Amino acid sequence: MTTAIRDALLAQALTCEHGGSPMYAELLRRAADEPDGPIAAVLSDGPDAGRCLRLLGAVHRLVLEGRAPDLAAHYPTAATTPTNALATSAPPPTTGAGTTRHATDVSTAGDAANTNAAMSGAIASPTTTNTNTNTTSVSAARAATGANTTTGATTAGAAGGGTADPLDAWPAFRALLAERPDEVRAAMAGAPQTNEVGRAAPLVGGLLSIMAAIGERPVRLLEVGASAGLNLRADHYRYESGGLGFGPADSPVVLRDAWLGSPPPLTGGLSIVERRGCDLAPVDPVADAVRLLSFVWPDQHERVARLRGALEIAARVPATVVQADAATFLADLEPRPDVVTVVWHSLMWQYLSPAEQAQVTASIERAGSLATPDAPVAHLYLEQANDADFHSLPVLTLRLWPHHGGERRILADTPHHGVPATWR
Ligand SMILES: C[S@@+](CC[C@H](N)C(=O)[O-])C[C@H]1O[C@@H](n2cnc3c(N)ncnc32)[C@H](O)[C@@H]1O
Repeated sequence: MTTAIRDALLAQALTCEHGGSPMYAELLRRAADEPDGPIAAVLSDGPDAGRCLRLLGAVHRLVLEGRAPDLAAHYPTAATTPTNALATSAPPPTTGAGTTRHATDVSTAGDAANTNAAMSGAIASPTTTNTNTNTTSVSAARAATGANTTTGATTAGAAGGGTADPLDAWPAFRALLAERPDEVRAAMAGAPQTNEVGRAAPLVGGLLSIMAAIGERPVRLLEVGASAGLNLRADHYRYESGGLGFGPADSPVVLRDAWLGSPPPLTGGLSIVERRGCDLAPVDPVADAVRLLSFVWPDQHERVARLRGALEIAARVPATVVQADAATFLADLEPRPDVVTVVWHSLMWQYLSPAEQAQVTASIERAGSLATPDAPVAHLYLEQANDADFHSLPVLTLRLWPHHGGERRILADTPHHGVPATWR
Protein backbone atom coordinates (compact mmCIF):
# COMPACT_ATOMS: atom_id res chain seq x y z
CA MET A 1 0.00 0.00 0.00
CA THR A 2 1.36 3.43 -0.89
CA THR A 3 1.52 6.16 1.72
CA ALA A 4 -1.01 8.12 -0.32
CA ILE A 5 -3.56 5.30 -0.11
CA ARG A 6 -2.99 4.77 3.60
CA ASP A 7 -3.37 8.52 4.22
CA ALA A 8 -6.53 8.58 2.12
CA LEU A 9 -8.03 5.68 4.10
CA LEU A 10 -7.24 7.28 7.45
CA ALA A 11 -8.44 10.73 6.40
CA GLN A 12 -11.70 9.27 5.09
CA ALA A 13 -12.08 7.25 8.31
CA LEU A 14 -11.88 10.48 10.31
CA THR A 15 -14.42 12.19 8.06
CA CYS A 16 -16.79 9.25 8.40
CA GLU A 17 -16.37 9.19 12.18
CA HIS A 18 -17.20 12.92 12.43
CA GLY A 19 -19.94 12.60 9.82
CA GLY A 20 -21.87 9.95 11.76
CA SER A 21 -20.71 6.69 10.19
CA PRO A 22 -18.82 4.65 12.82
CA MET A 23 -19.21 1.64 10.56
CA TYR A 24 -17.28 3.14 7.65
CA ALA A 25 -14.69 4.61 10.05
CA GLU A 26 -14.05 1.11 11.41
CA LEU A 27 -13.84 -0.53 7.97
CA LEU A 28 -11.45 2.09 6.64
CA ARG A 29 -9.15 1.89 9.66
CA ARG A 30 -9.04 -1.90 9.43
CA ALA A 31 -8.16 -1.56 5.75
CA ALA A 32 -5.38 0.92 6.55
CA ASP A 33 -3.94 -1.63 8.99
CA GLU A 34 -3.42 -4.15 6.18
CA PRO A 35 -0.77 -2.81 3.79
CA ASP A 36 -0.91 -5.99 1.69
CA GLY A 37 -4.60 -6.67 2.14
CA PRO A 38 -7.33 -6.97 -0.48
CA ILE A 39 -8.63 -3.42 0.00
CA ALA A 40 -5.18 -1.94 -0.63
CA ALA A 41 -4.89 -4.10 -3.76
CA VAL A 42 -8.18 -2.86 -5.23
CA LEU A 43 -7.44 0.77 -4.36
CA SER A 44 -4.01 0.57 -6.02
CA ASP A 45 -5.64 -0.12 -9.40
CA GLY A 46 -8.39 2.49 -9.28
CA PRO A 47 -8.48 6.23 -9.98
CA ASP A 48 -6.96 8.48 -7.32
CA ALA A 49 -9.79 11.00 -7.03
CA GLY A 50 -12.35 9.98 -4.42
CA ARG A 51 -10.93 6.45 -4.33
CA CYS A 52 -12.23 5.56 -0.85
CA LEU A 53 -15.73 6.87 -1.52
CA ARG A 54 -15.80 5.03 -4.84
CA LEU A 55 -14.88 1.79 -3.13
CA LEU A 56 -17.38 2.21 -0.30
CA GLY A 57 -20.09 3.16 -2.80
CA ALA A 58 -19.26 0.17 -5.01
CA VAL A 59 -19.52 -2.28 -2.13
CA HIS A 60 -22.71 -0.64 -0.86
CA ARG A 61 -24.22 -1.00 -4.31
CA LEU A 62 -23.47 -4.74 -4.39
CA VAL A 63 -25.16 -4.99 -1.00
CA LEU A 64 -28.22 -2.98 -2.13
CA GLU A 65 -28.51 -5.12 -5.25
CA GLY A 66 -28.57 -8.28 -3.17
CA ARG A 67 -25.20 -9.44 -4.51
CA ALA A 68 -23.36 -9.60 -1.17
CA PRO A 69 -25.67 -11.38 1.29
CA ASP A 70 -23.04 -12.10 3.96
CA LEU A 71 -22.14 -8.43 4.16
CA ALA A 72 -25.78 -7.35 3.85
CA ALA A 73 -26.46 -8.77 7.29
CA HIS A 74 -24.38 -5.87 8.70
CA TYR A 75 -25.71 -3.08 6.46
CA PRO A 76 -28.78 -1.34 7.92
CA THR A 77 -29.76 -0.26 4.39
CA ALA A 78 -29.73 -3.77 2.97
CA ALA A 79 -32.96 -5.14 1.66
CA THR A 80 -34.29 -8.49 2.68
CA THR A 81 -35.04 -8.86 -1.02
CA PRO A 82 -33.42 -6.79 -3.80
CA THR A 83 -36.77 -5.26 -4.76
CA ASN A 84 -37.26 -3.50 -1.44
CA ALA A 85 -33.86 -1.81 -1.34
CA LEU A 86 -35.62 1.50 -1.90
CA ALA A 87 -38.69 0.84 0.16
CA THR A 88 -40.41 3.51 2.20
CA SER A 89 -43.94 3.92 3.41
CA ALA A 90 -46.19 4.62 0.46
CA PRO A 91 -48.10 7.95 0.41
CA PRO A 92 -50.95 8.73 -1.99
CA PRO A 93 -50.18 10.03 -5.50
CA THR A 94 -49.97 13.78 -6.06
CA THR A 95 -49.48 16.14 -8.97
CA GLY A 96 -46.34 18.04 -9.94
CA ALA A 97 -47.64 21.55 -9.40
CA GLY A 98 -49.39 22.38 -6.20
CA THR A 99 -49.76 24.56 -3.20
CA THR A 100 -48.45 23.62 0.21
CA ARG A 101 -50.18 25.70 2.82
CA HIS A 102 -50.06 24.72 6.41
CA ALA A 103 -48.48 25.51 9.65
CA THR A 104 -49.50 22.76 12.01
CA ASP A 105 -48.52 21.65 15.43
CA VAL A 106 -46.12 18.75 15.06
CA SER A 107 -47.75 17.02 17.97
CA THR A 108 -50.93 16.67 15.89
CA ALA A 109 -49.25 16.15 12.54
CA GLY A 110 -50.64 12.66 12.09
CA ASP A 111 -54.20 13.86 12.66
CA ALA A 112 -55.87 14.49 9.31
CA ALA A 113 -58.39 16.84 10.94
CA ASN A 114 -55.59 19.15 11.99
CA THR A 115 -53.47 19.09 8.88
CA ASN A 116 -53.81 19.95 5.26
CA ALA A 117 -52.01 17.28 3.33
CA ALA A 118 -53.81 18.08 0.11
CA MET A 119 -51.93 19.78 -2.69
CA SER A 120 -54.43 21.30 -5.03
CA GLY A 121 -53.34 21.49 -8.67
CA ALA A 122 -53.11 25.24 -8.22
CA ILE A 123 -51.72 26.36 -11.55
CA ALA A 124 -50.81 24.72 -14.83
CA SER A 125 -48.61 21.65 -15.00
CA PRO A 126 -44.91 22.34 -14.75
CA THR A 127 -43.25 23.45 -17.93
CA THR A 128 -40.71 20.88 -19.02
CA THR A 129 -38.96 22.59 -21.91
CA ASN A 130 -35.98 20.46 -22.81
CA THR A 131 -33.21 22.03 -24.80
CA ASN A 132 -31.08 18.93 -24.84
CA THR A 133 -31.77 15.39 -25.85
CA ASN A 134 -30.01 13.98 -22.82
CA THR A 135 -32.71 14.82 -20.34
CA THR A 136 -33.78 13.42 -17.03
CA SER A 137 -37.52 13.78 -16.85
CA VAL A 138 -39.46 11.49 -14.60
CA SER A 139 -43.17 11.30 -14.76
CA ALA A 140 -45.78 9.58 -12.72
CA ALA A 141 -46.64 7.60 -15.84
CA ARG A 142 -43.14 6.19 -15.95
CA ALA A 143 -43.31 5.15 -12.34
CA ALA A 144 -46.54 3.38 -13.14
CA THR A 145 -44.83 1.35 -15.86
CA GLY A 146 -42.74 -0.37 -13.23
CA ALA A 147 -39.54 1.64 -13.61
CA ASN A 148 -39.92 2.43 -9.96
CA THR A 149 -38.61 -0.36 -7.77
CA THR A 150 -40.33 1.04 -4.69
CA THR A 151 -42.28 -1.96 -3.54
CA GLY A 152 -42.65 -3.95 -0.38
CA ALA A 153 -43.36 -0.92 1.78
CA THR A 154 -41.89 -0.71 5.27
CA THR A 155 -41.00 2.39 7.22
CA ALA A 156 -38.61 4.90 5.65
CA GLY A 157 -35.01 4.22 6.49
CA ALA A 158 -35.63 0.71 7.70
CA ALA A 159 -36.30 -1.34 4.62
CA GLY A 160 -35.93 -4.63 6.40
CA GLY A 161 -32.18 -4.06 6.54
CA GLY A 162 -29.36 -6.11 7.99
CA THR A 163 -29.57 -6.36 11.74
CA ALA A 164 -26.10 -7.71 12.59
CA ASP A 165 -23.79 -5.19 14.27
CA PRO A 166 -22.37 -2.81 11.62
CA LEU A 167 -19.13 -2.62 13.62
CA ASP A 168 -18.66 -6.37 13.07
CA ALA A 169 -18.83 -6.05 9.28
CA TRP A 170 -15.07 -6.26 8.70
CA PRO A 171 -14.64 -10.04 8.07
CA ALA A 172 -17.46 -10.11 5.46
CA PHE A 173 -16.26 -6.81 3.92
CA ARG A 174 -12.71 -8.10 3.62
CA ALA A 175 -13.88 -11.45 2.23
CA LEU A 176 -15.89 -9.74 -0.51
CA LEU A 177 -12.87 -7.69 -1.60
CA ALA A 178 -10.59 -10.75 -1.44
CA GLU A 179 -12.90 -13.10 -3.33
CA ARG A 180 -14.52 -10.78 -5.91
CA PRO A 181 -12.16 -7.84 -6.50
CA ASP A 182 -13.10 -7.56 -10.18
CA GLU A 183 -16.77 -7.02 -9.38
CA VAL A 184 -15.86 -4.27 -6.92
CA ARG A 185 -13.48 -2.67 -9.43
CA ALA A 186 -16.20 -2.68 -12.10
CA ALA A 187 -18.67 -1.04 -9.70
CA MET A 188 -16.09 1.67 -8.91
CA ALA A 189 -16.21 3.04 -12.46
CA GLY A 190 -18.80 5.79 -11.86
CA ALA A 191 -17.77 8.95 -10.02
CA PRO A 192 -19.54 9.45 -6.68
CA GLN A 193 -22.66 11.56 -7.08
CA THR A 194 -25.05 12.70 -4.40
CA ASN A 195 -28.17 14.78 -4.06
CA GLU A 196 -28.64 16.00 -0.50
CA VAL A 197 -32.30 16.20 0.50
CA GLY A 198 -31.51 18.03 3.76
CA ARG A 199 -30.68 21.12 1.69
CA ALA A 200 -34.39 21.43 0.95
CA ALA A 201 -34.70 22.96 4.45
CA PRO A 202 -32.76 26.15 3.60
CA LEU A 203 -34.34 26.17 0.12
CA VAL A 204 -37.91 26.17 1.41
CA GLY A 205 -37.04 28.53 4.26
CA GLY A 206 -35.57 30.87 1.64
CA LEU A 207 -38.66 30.59 -0.56
CA LEU A 208 -40.83 31.48 2.45
CA SER A 209 -38.57 34.49 3.11
CA ILE A 210 -39.12 35.60 -0.49
CA MET A 211 -42.90 35.27 -0.03
CA ALA A 212 -42.64 37.34 3.14
CA ALA A 213 -40.90 40.08 1.12
CA ILE A 214 -43.03 40.10 -2.05
CA GLY A 215 -46.32 38.52 -0.99
CA GLU A 216 -47.52 35.07 -1.90
CA ARG A 217 -46.86 34.26 -5.52
CA PRO A 218 -46.30 31.12 -7.66
CA VAL A 219 -42.67 30.02 -7.90
CA ARG A 220 -40.77 29.17 -11.05
CA LEU A 221 -37.90 27.15 -9.59
CA LEU A 222 -34.73 26.86 -11.68
CA GLU A 223 -31.85 24.86 -10.16
CA VAL A 224 -28.31 24.69 -11.51
CA GLY A 225 -26.18 21.72 -10.46
CA ALA A 226 -29.45 19.94 -9.63
CA SER A 227 -28.00 16.38 -9.68
CA ALA A 228 -31.15 14.18 -9.60
CA GLY A 229 -33.45 17.19 -9.12
CA LEU A 230 -34.73 15.90 -5.78
CA ASN A 231 -34.90 19.37 -4.26
CA LEU A 232 -36.97 20.64 -7.19
CA ARG A 233 -39.74 18.73 -5.32
CA ALA A 234 -38.99 20.40 -1.97
CA ASP A 235 -42.61 21.49 -1.47
CA HIS A 236 -43.53 17.81 -1.17
CA TYR A 237 -41.40 17.38 1.95
CA ARG A 238 -42.42 17.94 5.55
CA TYR A 239 -40.52 20.49 7.69
CA GLU A 240 -40.74 20.53 11.46
CA SER A 241 -39.48 23.40 13.54
CA GLY A 242 -40.08 24.43 17.15
CA GLY A 243 -43.37 22.59 17.51
CA LEU A 244 -44.66 23.73 14.12
CA GLY A 245 -44.76 21.91 10.84
CA PHE A 246 -44.88 22.94 7.21
CA GLY A 247 -45.62 20.79 4.19
CA PRO A 248 -47.72 17.67 3.73
CA ALA A 249 -48.06 15.80 7.01
CA ASP A 250 -48.03 12.46 5.20
CA SER A 251 -44.83 13.11 3.25
CA PRO A 252 -42.29 10.26 3.29
CA VAL A 253 -39.62 12.96 3.77
CA VAL A 254 -39.63 14.57 7.20
CA LEU A 255 -36.95 17.13 8.05
CA ARG A 256 -36.92 17.42 11.83
CA ASP A 257 -35.55 20.62 13.35
CA ALA A 258 -35.45 21.99 9.82
CA TRP A 259 -35.15 25.58 10.99
CA LEU A 260 -33.65 27.00 14.19
CA GLY A 261 -33.47 30.61 15.38
CA SER A 262 -36.14 32.86 13.88
CA PRO A 263 -37.39 31.05 10.80
CA PRO A 264 -39.56 32.75 8.19
CA PRO A 265 -43.32 32.87 8.86
CA LEU A 266 -44.86 29.45 8.26
CA THR A 267 -48.40 30.69 7.75
CA GLY A 268 -48.22 31.42 4.03
CA GLY A 269 -48.50 29.06 1.09
CA LEU A 270 -45.93 27.76 -1.34
CA SER A 271 -46.89 26.95 -4.89
CA ILE A 272 -44.17 25.70 -7.26
CA VAL A 273 -45.47 25.82 -10.82
CA GLU A 274 -42.29 25.05 -12.73
CA ARG A 275 -39.47 22.68 -11.71
CA ARG A 276 -36.55 22.77 -14.06
CA GLY A 277 -32.82 22.37 -13.62
CA CYS A 278 -29.54 21.48 -15.23
CA ASP A 279 -26.47 19.48 -14.32
CA LEU A 280 -23.28 18.54 -16.11
CA ALA A 281 -24.09 14.94 -15.20
CA PRO A 282 -27.80 14.58 -14.40
CA VAL A 283 -28.86 11.57 -12.38
CA ASP A 284 -32.14 9.80 -13.14
CA PRO A 285 -33.88 9.45 -9.75
CA VAL A 286 -35.64 6.28 -10.91
CA ALA A 287 -33.13 4.41 -13.05
CA ASP A 288 -30.15 5.51 -10.91
CA ALA A 289 -31.85 5.35 -7.52
CA VAL A 290 -29.71 2.52 -6.16
CA ARG A 291 -26.56 4.28 -7.34
CA LEU A 292 -27.58 7.48 -5.51
CA LEU A 293 -28.34 5.51 -2.36
CA SER A 294 -25.02 3.66 -2.58
CA PHE A 295 -23.11 6.91 -1.96
CA VAL A 296 -24.93 7.60 1.31
CA TRP A 297 -23.29 6.00 4.34
CA PRO A 298 -25.44 3.05 5.44
CA ASP A 299 -25.50 3.88 9.15
CA GLN A 300 -26.53 7.53 8.60
CA HIS A 301 -30.13 6.58 9.23
CA GLU A 302 -31.74 10.03 8.86
CA ARG A 303 -30.01 10.72 5.54
CA VAL A 304 -30.93 7.31 4.20
CA ALA A 305 -34.56 7.80 5.22
CA ARG A 306 -34.69 11.27 3.61
CA LEU A 307 -33.20 10.01 0.39
CA ARG A 308 -35.49 7.01 0.15
CA GLY A 309 -38.53 9.23 0.69
CA ALA A 310 -37.34 11.78 -1.86
CA LEU A 311 -36.71 9.09 -4.49
CA GLU A 312 -40.21 7.84 -3.97
CA ILE A 313 -41.61 11.36 -4.46
CA ALA A 314 -39.42 11.90 -7.53
CA ALA A 315 -40.97 8.84 -9.15
CA ARG A 316 -44.40 10.48 -9.11
CA VAL A 317 -43.76 14.25 -9.18
CA PRO A 318 -42.39 15.42 -12.56
CA ALA A 319 -39.38 17.69 -12.83
CA THR A 320 -36.85 18.19 -15.58
CA VAL A 321 -33.06 18.22 -15.31
CA VAL A 322 -31.27 18.80 -18.59
CA GLN A 323 -27.64 18.02 -19.23
CA ALA A 324 -26.06 21.45 -19.49
CA ASP A 325 -23.60 23.65 -17.66
CA ALA A 326 -24.99 26.40 -15.47
CA ALA A 327 -23.87 29.28 -17.72
CA THR A 328 -25.54 27.81 -20.81
CA PHE A 329 -28.70 26.95 -18.92
CA LEU A 330 -29.13 30.51 -17.64
CA ALA A 331 -27.91 32.35 -20.74
CA ASP A 332 -31.41 33.44 -21.81
CA LEU A 333 -32.85 33.95 -18.34
CA GLU A 334 -35.68 36.49 -18.21
CA PRO A 335 -38.33 37.38 -15.65
CA ARG A 336 -41.83 36.09 -16.28
CA PRO A 337 -45.04 37.90 -15.32
CA ASP A 338 -47.18 36.57 -12.47
CA VAL A 339 -44.49 34.28 -11.06
CA VAL A 340 -41.33 34.81 -9.06
CA THR A 341 -38.37 33.38 -10.96
CA VAL A 342 -36.02 31.78 -8.44
CA VAL A 343 -32.55 30.59 -9.45
CA TRP A 344 -31.37 28.16 -6.76
CA HIS A 345 -28.16 26.22 -6.25
CA SER A 346 -26.47 24.37 -3.42
CA LEU A 347 -22.89 23.19 -2.92
CA MET A 348 -22.00 23.44 -6.60
CA TRP A 349 -20.40 26.89 -7.01
CA GLN A 350 -16.92 25.59 -6.18
CA TYR A 351 -17.04 23.41 -9.32
CA LEU A 352 -17.50 26.37 -11.69
CA SER A 353 -14.53 28.14 -13.24
CA PRO A 354 -14.24 31.85 -12.37
CA ALA A 355 -15.33 32.60 -15.96
CA GLU A 356 -18.47 30.48 -15.60
CA GLN A 357 -19.23 31.99 -12.19
CA ALA A 358 -19.04 35.45 -13.77
CA GLN A 359 -21.34 34.40 -16.65
CA VAL A 360 -23.93 32.97 -14.27
CA THR A 361 -23.84 36.07 -12.10
CA ALA A 362 -24.18 38.33 -15.16
CA SER A 363 -27.19 36.39 -16.48
CA ILE A 364 -28.97 36.60 -13.13
CA GLU A 365 -28.15 40.29 -12.69
CA ARG A 366 -29.38 41.05 -16.21
CA ALA A 367 -32.67 39.25 -15.47
CA GLY A 368 -32.76 41.11 -12.15
CA SER A 369 -32.44 44.46 -13.96
CA LEU A 370 -35.53 43.52 -16.02
CA ALA A 371 -37.54 42.43 -12.97
CA THR A 372 -40.72 44.28 -11.96
CA PRO A 373 -42.95 43.98 -8.89
CA ASP A 374 -45.18 41.76 -11.04
CA ALA A 375 -42.26 39.68 -12.35
CA PRO A 376 -39.66 39.45 -9.58
CA VAL A 377 -36.36 37.57 -9.81
CA ALA A 378 -34.47 35.93 -6.95
CA HIS A 379 -31.06 34.33 -6.63
CA LEU A 380 -31.13 31.99 -3.64
CA TYR A 381 -28.06 29.92 -2.89
CA LEU A 382 -26.54 27.70 -0.24
CA GLU A 383 -22.81 27.77 -0.77
CA GLN A 384 -19.71 27.56 1.38
CA ALA A 385 -18.74 30.88 2.87
CA ASN A 386 -15.24 30.30 1.54
CA ASP A 387 -15.29 28.06 -1.50
CA ALA A 388 -11.52 27.71 -1.45
CA ASP A 389 -11.86 25.88 1.88
CA PHE A 390 -13.51 22.48 1.56
CA HIS A 391 -14.42 22.47 5.28
CA SER A 392 -16.01 25.91 5.39
CA LEU A 393 -19.70 25.74 6.27
CA PRO A 394 -22.48 26.85 3.90
CA VAL A 395 -24.51 30.03 4.23
CA LEU A 396 -27.88 30.73 2.66
CA THR A 397 -27.90 33.97 0.69
CA LEU A 398 -30.72 35.80 -1.06
CA ARG A 399 -30.64 38.47 -3.76
CA LEU A 400 -34.06 39.78 -4.77
CA TRP A 401 -35.11 42.15 -7.55
CA PRO A 402 -36.67 44.67 -7.60
CA HIS A 403 -37.67 44.49 -3.93
CA HIS A 404 -34.18 44.45 -2.40
CA GLY A 405 -32.47 45.97 -5.45
CA GLY A 406 -30.38 42.78 -5.73
CA GLU A 407 -28.61 43.44 -2.43
CA ARG A 408 -27.03 40.30 -0.90
CA ARG A 409 -28.73 39.27 2.34
CA ILE A 410 -27.46 36.35 4.36
CA LEU A 411 -30.43 34.45 5.74
CA ALA A 412 -29.09 31.37 7.52
CA ASP A 413 -26.15 29.13 8.37
CA THR A 414 -26.25 25.37 7.90
CA PRO A 415 -24.11 22.28 8.23
CA HIS A 416 -22.98 20.64 4.97
CA HIS A 417 -26.14 18.59 4.64
CA GLY A 418 -28.36 21.65 5.07
CA VAL A 419 -30.34 20.74 8.16
CA PRO A 420 -30.83 22.33 10.62
CA ALA A 421 -30.76 25.77 9.02
CA THR A 422 -30.12 28.38 11.72
CA TRP A 423 -31.80 31.63 10.81
CA ARG A 424 -29.89 34.83 11.43
C1 LIG B 1 -21.90 18.35 -4.68
S1 LIG B 1 -23.06 18.12 -5.96
C2 LIG B 1 -24.45 19.00 -5.29
C3 LIG B 1 -25.71 18.55 -5.93
C4 LIG B 1 -26.95 19.27 -5.41
N1 LIG B 1 -26.90 20.67 -5.70
C5 LIG B 1 -27.11 19.05 -3.93
O1 LIG B 1 -26.99 20.03 -3.15
O2 LIG B 1 -27.37 17.93 -3.52
C6 LIG B 1 -22.49 19.24 -7.25
C7 LIG B 1 -23.26 19.07 -8.54
O3 LIG B 1 -22.87 20.12 -9.43
C8 LIG B 1 -22.80 19.58 -10.73
N2 LIG B 1 -21.95 20.49 -11.53
C9 LIG B 1 -20.61 20.64 -11.46
N3 LIG B 1 -20.19 21.60 -12.32
C10 LIG B 1 -21.30 22.06 -12.95
C11 LIG B 1 -21.53 23.06 -13.95
N4 LIG B 1 -20.54 23.76 -14.47
N5 LIG B 1 -22.80 23.28 -14.35
C12 LIG B 1 -23.83 22.55 -13.82
N6 LIG B 1 -23.66 21.60 -12.88
C13 LIG B 1 -22.42 21.35 -12.45
C14 LIG B 1 -22.24 18.19 -10.50
O4 LIG B 1 -22.46 17.35 -11.60
C15 LIG B 1 -22.99 17.77 -9.25
O5 LIG B 1 -24.21 17.14 -9.55
